[in-house]
Amino acid sequence: MAALEDSAAARRAAELRTTLHRLGHHYYVLDAPLVSDAAYDALFQELQALEAAHPQLRTPDSPTQRVGGAVLDGFATVRHTVPMLSIRTETDTGPSGAQAFDTRIRKELELPETAAAVEYLAELKFDGLAMSLRYEGGVLVQAATRGDGEYGEDVTHNIRTIGQIPLRLQDAPPVLEVRGEVYMRRADFEALNARQRARIDAGEKGEKTFVNPRNAAAGAVRQLDPAIAAQRPLSFFAYGLGEVQGGPHWSSHAAMLQSLEDWGFPVAQHRRVAAGADALVQFHADTGAQRDRLPFEIDGVVYKVNSLALQQRLGFVSREPRWAVAHKYPAQEQSTQVLAIDVQVGRTGKLTPVAKLAPVFVGGVTVTNATLHNEDEARRKDVRVGDTVLVRRAGDVIPEVVSVLPQPAGSDTPRGEVFTMPRSCPVCGSAAVREEGEADYRCTGGLVCSAQRKQAILHFAQRRAVEVEGLGEKLVDQLVDGGLIRTLPDLYRLGFATLAALDRMAEKSAHNIVDALEQSKATTLPRFLFGLGIRHVGEATAKELARHFGDVDALMDATEEQLLEVNDVGPTVALSIRTFFDQPHNREAVQQLRACGIHWPAIAAASDAPKPLAGLTFVITGTLPTLGRDAAKALIEDAGGKVAGSVSKKTSFVLAGTEAGSKLEKAQELGVAVMDEARLREMLDGGT
Ligand code: IVH
Repeated sequence: MAALEDSAAARRAAELRTTLHRLGHHYYVLDAPLVSDAAYDALFQELQALEAAHPQLRTPDSPTQRVGGAVLDGFATVRHTVPMLSIRTETDTGPSGAQAFDTRIRKELELPETAAAVEYLAELKFDGLAMSLRYEGGVLVQAATRGDGEYGEDVTHNIRTIGQIPLRLQDAPPVLEVRGEVYMRRADFEALNARQRARIDAGEKGEKTFVNPRNAAAGAVRQLDPAIAAQRPLSFFAYGLGEVQGGPHWSSHAAMLQSLEDWGFPVAQHRRVAAGADALVQFHADTGAQRDRLPFEIDGVVYKVNSLALQQRLGFVSREPRWAVAHKYPAQEQSTQVLAIDVQVGRTGKLTPVAKLAPVFVGGVTVTNATLHNEDEARRKDVRVGDTVLVRRAGDVIPEVVSVLPQPAGSDTPRGEVFTMPRSCPVCGSAAVREEGEADYRCTGGLVCSAQRKQAILHFAQRRAVEVEGLGEKLVDQLVDGGLIRTLPDLYRLGFATLAALDRMAEKSAHNIVDALEQSKATTLPRFLFGLGIRHVGEATAKELARHFGDVDALMDATEEQLLEVNDVGPTVALSIRTFFDQPHNREAVQQLRACGIHWPAIAAASDAPKPLAGLTFVITGTLPTLGRDAAKALIEDAGGKVAGSVSKKTSFVLAGTEAGSKLEKAQELGVAVMDEARLREMLDGGT
């Protein structure tokens, strides 16, 4: 009887393991769960209970074995039977990096110039740490770090906790070592650091935040306590093989990656077969353009000769294969020294601590300033003058100080003083105050403060506002510091003679500025309103205000209640607008700017005009016969309608042109009405 029960339990346990493996693969690797979390948990708990009652059923590949396990006192050493190699790095981040590699390959293969292009597999260079996963009989038996390439560390207990890594493979060779990168996704990294900050704030000892996803991943992999490792969300991408006994015979790297994917390993979709140097250059450029939008960090791309026969012919030099190269992007983090910490005053009086740095090349440009955001951030990072810091510049983001690096060993220079925010404005001396619940200190000087005046002028003159071409920071400094302009209208009173008399101002440049000022007078109401620099009024709000009120006088006299009627205007924005126009000097500036000749085409105030599309939501898809997408959107919005990005039950109409895709299908699925441009025009004309 007992034997019969046992065999039923064994069958059920095996069944549960298979189901949980399949569900886990869909959840972690394919990112497309098949069942709810609760349903998964119920099966998981059933298996746990079975294993508790029948410990002999607990197999190393059981999904229950991912978490838990004893705390270790150290890592065992693992010898890699097939060494873990590194890749030669092409530091030339331009196109010639790819060209040089292709040239080298063609030369090594002794290909004549007329020979066809060599085929490569281009993939990402993940910024994590290399890992070797060993499967015997299809079961994960060992995970090891690269170490020196020949000897690594056994970190199986931690790697098991990574949901993306299969514990068991179907139809795999008897021995299979899969090589790849363990990394942390950006969002997981941010969430981990937020949790760490909360722990630190709660006074927990020994907790710290992590500098970047790679350090966080490396720390998690080398955790001696698997329970802690399990709380550090790691991910994995497979990109190669180590020892293999038996199994398929592949002819290309691409085919091998496909097998890895079929076995259930995560393989980055962002990969491409590329023939010849130009295709490599293209991949490098395309990937570079998407780099900051990828959910994980990369520091370059990798090109590998696709044919495994050619790889074998090319062989190795020392520890690097000749058939692969890493083609980098400019580093986004570098270390440098803090020379000073300045406090800058923004247009709305916000005080920002800024680290002045010894010049450093990072993210493709030379950086000399990095923001410390606000007093709390500066204190949390404890940045001081003289410190060596890690500076980060990704994409177009303002460079920031990530963290202070440890002082070099043996250095006994005392550190600088702890940063404190001045209680008065460093520019005008007015009081600086931090309001309850706000992170920022603000100078209370308003337009008395020359820093705020300068920023206000630069804001007004920027391309997205009224646009005065050539009016840059240096010129504004000269004009404000020289007392030549105090307010925005003063700009338009600067004559040619005043400008030409400025230091380092050539006649030609003075003429250009005069012309640019003249040209800027013809503007639009939204640009003008945005240019005024009212706190919380960005471009989108300025457009809404212009559409709603039709002119600046109606806006200046609007009560808070009336302002609240405008799309997207909430209490904070309404109050800010009211406060702005309650100041006589601001109303005066508007009148004078108009008197100087600033003008814009009249807009019919929305409140007077009928709004045929009020209350309707549209989704635009495909190519319309005459209207561009933006034009259609503007027409709909002007008529009181809303334009949304995706189709839902709340959508009133889908406006479809030719080549409409999934949005049209979705509309049909949900029974949402579909219309064409002609029908839209009828509705705009007031027909229904
Ligand atoms: S292949 C035969 N492919 O870069 C070459 N490595 O310096 C073995 N890495 O230790 C590595 N992305 O940690 C390869 N797509 C990729 C990679 C990659 C990142 C890392 C890996 C390795 C180092 C090589």
